[in-house]
Amino acid sequence: MKNFTNVTDIGPLDKAVAEALKIKADKFAYTDLGRNRTLLMIFFNSSLRTRLSTQKAAMNLGMNVMVLDVNQGAWKLETERGVIMDGDKAEHLLEAIPVMGSYCDIIGVRSFAGLKDKAEDYEERVIEQFIKYSGRPVFSMEAATRHPLQSFADLITIEEFKTKPRPKVVMTWAPHPRALPQAVPNSFAEWMNATDYEFVITHPEGYELAPQFVGNARVEYDQRKALEGADFVYAKNWSAYADPNYGKVISTDRGWTVDAEKMALTDNAYFMHCLPVRRNMIVTDDVIESPRSIVIPEAANREISAQTVIKRLLESL
Ligand code: CP
Repeated sequence: MKNFTNVTDIGPLDKAVAEALKIKADKFAYTDLGRNRTLLMIFFNSSLRTRLSTQKAAMNLGMNVMVLDVNQGAWKLETERGVIMDGDKAEHLLEAIPVMGSYCDIIGVRSFAGLKDKAEDYEERVIEQFIKYSGRPVFSMEAATRHPLQSFADLITIEEFKTKPRPKVVMTWAPHPRALPQAVPNSFAEWMNATDYEFVITHPEGYELAPQFVGNARVEYDQRKALEGADFVYAKNWSAYADPNYGKVISTDRGWTVDAEKMALTDNAYFMHCLPVRRNMIVTDDVIESPRSIVIPEAANREISAQTVIKRLLESL
């Protein structure tokens, strides 16, 4: 594997999950693989889980790890070519990327969508520049349109908890006060569409995701109908994708909050969310605290998805 930015990079999912579960059973089996190798993690945006789980995964593989928060203590970076740099940005990404590449063996990048310019976001300009100019394998720690380490962890979690070969997985939009990117739902849809699960997406009208991510999933505008018989409920907020509302909050309807009454419509479903989660906006306290909530094992599996990906990148050096 040369880079990891989407589901196709990981190859057959059954093999990837089997490898992940093997790693989970013995996290320190490959501590020699990363000896004298350095991972550079670059954050353009905040993180709790991705930062800690990816660093832990690299340490499990024997790597050295450096972390750069671009917006704290580094020069402000210009990302557009052709700009007259007479403002507050002291360095261009086109010099910064190869310099960063010269200090490490593998690069992880987190760079969210700006939610102003759909074309720019969906071209994945930042991570694509890292792939082009760093000279190193690059993996996404959440880019503008996808969060593949999260989706891989979600898949591992579903495989661990499922009690039937073809579970019904429902991804439901839920309200949030701020505009969030579509990366997590896009990516979750992309990964679920690569399985043979029954996959349903439910959201209010106006929150349609990009068709290339929806794929063949059933889209159901009636949340209660969508939840009937579900085995897994995956809650997430996202801002509008469709024009003219790209990147905007067009509803904060708390009628879409996942509560006990909604979960009662399911087949005793497990509740999932990538975290961080706004309680009593996305999900009620009682649902997230219930025994059917698997948000903590889901987050713990971020270490496993990251370790599987970094192991494969190390093996390709
Ligand atoms: N789920 C996730 O990526 O969490 P962080 O934003 O805290 O890394």
